[in-house]
Order: sequence, then C-alpha cells, then structure tokens
Amino acid sequence: MNSSQQYIDKLCEFRSLFPITNDKIYLNHASTGPMSQRAKDAIIECIRVYQSQAEFDFKTYFEKLRISREIFARLLNAEPQEITFTHNTSEGIYIALINLPLKKDDEIIVMNEVFPAVRYVVQYNFPELQKKFVNLCGEDPVMTIKKHLTPRTRAVVIDHTQFFTGEMIDLYPLSEFLKENEIYLVVDGIQSIGAIEFDTRKISVDFLACGGGKWLFGPGGAGFLYVNKKNFKILKRLHTGWLGVDWKSFENFETSPPLFNDARMFEMGTRNMLGISALTEHIKILLDFGLKDVEKRVLNLKKQLRIGFNELKLPVITPENEPQSGIITIKPENPRQLYEYLCNNNVVISLRNNCLRFSPHFYNTEEEIETLFALLKKYN
Ligand SMILES: Cc1ncc(COP(=O)(O)O)c(C=O)c1O
Repeated sequence: MNSSQQYIDKLCEFRSLFPITNDKIYLNHASTGPMSQRAKDAIIECIRVYQSQAEFDFKTYFEKLRISREIFARLLNAEPQEITFTHNTSEGIYIALINLPLKKDDEIIVMNEVFPAVRYVVQYNFPELQKKFVNLCGEDPVMTIKKHLTPRTRAVVIDHTQFFTGEMIDLYPLSEFLKENEIYLVVDGIQSIGAIEFDTRKISVDFLACGGGKWLFGPGGAGFLYVNKKNFKILKRLHTGWLGVDWKSFENFETSPPLFNDARMFEMGTRNMLGISALTEHIKILLDFGLKDVEKRVLNLKKQLRIGFNELKLPVITPENEPQSGIITIKPENPRQLYEYLCNNNVVISLRNNCLRFSPHFYNTEEEIETLFALLKKYN
C-alpha cells in the first residue's frame, strides 16, 4: 500500500469516529464540536460505574485524573502539573487573574475584540483593577501594546484567535516582549487549541484557558487552564479547596494535607468525571492523528474555502496574513437566507454579526467543501 493510500485510510478511520459526518457537512467547530463515538463510550463507562457502585473507588478516581492530566498536558507540550481541570474558559481566566500578584490600581490591558467570556470576567470580578481595552485586530500587537503601556501595567489578556473574523494574534513576538517587560500574559485559547498546534515550551504564556466544547469536540462544561510552572511560587493560592491537596485516602480526615504547589491546587472539589473522561478521549484522538497533521488539514481546508469564496466573489473578512486559525468568515449580501439555505442542505455553520462563519476540522474532506461550493453555485 502506498503512503497516500495509507493517509486516506487513516483519515477515513478517524472520520468514522464522528457519527455527525454520516448526515451533515459539519463546518461549525468554532461554535461547538460534535461528540465522537470514543467519548460517548467513555461517558457510558462512567455511568456504568455510577450505576453499579455509585462512584469510582479512590485509587481509580485519582489514577484516571492523573492519566487525563498527562494527556491534556501533551496537547500543549506542557507538564501535567501545569494543568488544572476547569469547567470552561471563563473559569480559567478568572483563576488566572485572581491568582496573579496584582494590587489595587494595577492596570491590565485587555484586547478589545475579545469574546464576551473574557470581558465579563474582567469587568465584574476585578473592580479594584484598572482596565484598558485596546484594539488589537489588524494591528501589530507588540507595537500596539507598547503604545498603551504605563508603569502600572501588570498583565495583558487576549483571545488568541478572534472568535468572529478568525484573526489570530501572532503570539510569539508578543509573549517575548511581555516577558522582557515582566508583564503577565493571559490567553483565552478556546478558538485555537485543538485546531492549531500550540507549544508552551516555544511560546511563553503565563496562563492559557480553554473550554473543551469547540475544537476539542466537547463536551461543553469541561475544560482546562494551563498555568506556567515558572509562576507557581508567586501565585496567590486563591480558588482552591479540599481537593487541591494530595489525599492518600478518604478514610481519615483528621489530618489536613497541604495544598499542591502546582496547578492542581486550583481544583477546589469533586471533578466532573463524565466531562473530563470524554474530553480526554477527544484529545487522544487529536494526539493519535498527530497535532501537526490536524493543523495542516484544518489550514488546507480553510485555504480551499478561501479560494472558492474568492471565485464566487463572496467577500471574505478573515485576514490573509500569518498566522492563520481554523476560522473563515464571509459577508454575503443576504446572510440569513444563505445561512438557512445551507442549513436546509445539511451544511452546519454559524451566523454571526450578519456574516457566515465556517470552521472545518481535520476530519472534514475536500469533497465536502466541493459539495458546499456546488450548493453555493446553485444558490447564486
Ligand atoms: C473566544 C471565546 N472564548 C470563550 C468562549 C466561551 O467561553 P466559556 O468556555 O467560558 O463558555 C467562546 C465561545 O463560546 C469564545 O469564542
């Protein structure tokens, strides 16, 4: 068998893990990722345990978490103790900001084009901080941040990929600049992680928050926060609780073990094992396919979309410069009608701000994109 045939077979095998591919052209991963068969099986296995014995036994519970943490860490080339399980992106951003050694009237710069997740967390939970909202899209992030820095600036909070246009912030130069200036970098990674490779050993961020419900295929309500180990010692140790410590058993609560000295300290209490188990399976799928190959396929499918939209003269609002995310957005004349037409033809995308957002994942095929364009031509 030649290598291209092997590649096609591999793709078919992975595609078959996602039942949604049987009846839909699903190009909506920036909204919600569909569940795979493997994740469903993992959830069913949890339910079997809950039904037959009420809860995992102590050893199995923590062993499952240990394995999941290792797998989540591999996704980011991080260390397991740099991963804390969360429910969603917002919670991760909150844990990050509440733990940084910031004082009253310290200033944080927040990317103005963030999804509301970051905006609400920042605005309502940190009244003591000064916030400066700064436009970063279409700008050189280093030059722009430089312009807004004051001696009181202590942290920058951004979305790595802008949820609507798909513009991706060039993180490496920004992270290096902020590191040199001793300013913390907090990143919402939900629109990148799972589609685009992210290596925390190459790009130095202080925190990266990510919900699991999009490019990681879910389920929603399970996610993680990456906490750069270089900061373990200076974090405030807030948002912690009885399961942020290393219990040896649950038979004796007369002792009080100390908090973990790493990201695990932020897991306050009993975890969502259903969500974590399913998300673990999804991350394993991405790792098994290969993160580089996942990214390559996402970007190639996006390129195919861009070429087709240009040919049909459908205005693309997603910038063309590097780096690229998995999102491509167009501004057609009748967005709602076109959206409904595609929905009625089993093509799933998002209608956002009077534009149409397409977000293919690695298991989508070139043939599906061709089918989409055949439909668009018919519509025209
Ligand atoms: C950039 C971005 N951040 C966060 C979220 C969601 O936040 P959370 O995971 O807290 O629900 C979304 C979309 O739902 C998003 O596009």
